[in-house]
Amino acid sequence: MLKLTGADGEMLDGRRGPAVQMAMSIVVEMAKAYGATELLDITAAHIDSTIYIGEAGLEFAERLAGLGARVAVPATLNVSGLDEHGWQAWPIPADWARNAQRQMRAYVQMGGVPTWTCAPYQSEPRPHLGQQVAWGESSAIVFANSVLGARTERYPDLLDICCAITGRVPAVGLHLTENRAGEILIRLAGIPASILQDEVFYPALGHLLGKIAQDRISVVDGMKVRPTEDQLKALGAAAASSGSVALFHLVGITPEAPTLEAAFQGRLPSRTVEVTLEDLRAARRDLTTAEGDRLDMVVVGCPHFSLAEWQQLTEMVEGKHVRPGVRFLVTSSRAMVQRATEAGCLAALEAFGGTVTVDTCPLTTPMLPPDVSRVMTNSGKHAYYAPGLLHTRVAFGSLADCVQSAAAGHIVRVESPWDQ
Ligand code: F3S
Repeated sequence: MLKLTGADGEMLDGRRGPAVQMAMSIVVEMAKAYGATELLDITAAHIDSTIYIGEAGLEFAERLAGLGARVAVPATLNVSGLDEHGWQAWPIPADWARNAQRQMRAYVQMGGVPTWTCAPYQSEPRPHLGQQVAWGESSAIVFANSVLGARTERYPDLLDICCAITGRVPAVGLHLTENRAGEILIRLAGIPASILQDEVFYPALGHLLGKIAQDRISVVDGMKVRPTEDQLKALGAAAASSGSVALFHLVGITPEAPTLEAAFQGRLPSRTVEVTLEDLRAARRDLTTAEGDRLDMVVVGCPHFSLAEWQQLTEMVEGKHVRPGVRFLVTSSRAMVQRATEAGCLAALEAFGGTVTVDTCPLTTPMLPPDVSRVMTNSGKHAYYAPGLLHTRVAFGSLADCVQSAAAGHIVRVESPWDQ
């Protein structure tokens, strides 16, 4: 039985206004469906309902904004339905653009911070260990829980904004300590250091981890190197695509897993899976669906490119040029592009012949030209979704593979430890 506080009751009976009442009625119904016995406070939110996918989501946002809704906690905004100021460079229908812009305005009117990024955790402020938040966007959720140690459920679109307006969430799932214990042990068996240090290892492991764990919490043991945040970002995004992973632990690396015992909260794993180099090679192969070497476009920055990634790209493209007939696209956030511009990275991309899009990405807006059917990417998430959502064939590779391929005009692979 769900118990509400006096303040919850005021929100629910309309004393805090009709928008809060509407949001609270949805939070309460969802709490009952989840079997929650109470609600708890959050101190921040990340809103994924910003993506325009049709009239219903737009109407919902405009209804709330029209009733005077305001977020009660700091709320960053996920990618939207288009690059607000650059969409005209792509074949996006004008009516789609108008609706997507209306939806963006509605969320800003409600007080959302117009970050328009799926990687809000790569700018400050970001949630800290133990902080209760309500986040949407699967790749951001898994990063918040696993890498930052913040606490969020996998909030679906529309519920995320209702939680932000009320500042309350059902006290269930990953908000509660006891539900954050590891369930499946994944042991890395005899993986050479050269592979552990290779960037492709992280999306490949994420892809495999998602398939093994699905919506369970896995604990990975045997990481002998300390990954960068971008590598953990790539791992989590891939795991949240091939599975519904919202939390993983890396023993000795992620905040709630200083030891194997701590990751399992003293319990025993329900299952142990040994991951070999052959399993990882198969996961890496699985992400490539394109045959032959034809290439139309390269897409990097899924999740959105960080400054560190911009800097790596800048070094790689020096002296190279994208071959005519191939497009090279970086997706990133406004904040990161500003920093990349100041660091000279944008000029380097332009000299290479690449372009950038902000606020969105090809999986969330109809920006791809119709002649694009062969794409290369370094993202496990993009490689997983693009064949189904965009009907493109994908070649998965490292960032260096992506750059070399764009310059060559066809898919090439640089020498890597995977081939040895
Ligand atoms: Fe971000 Fe789009 Fe990838 S929202 S995580 S760049 S699919």
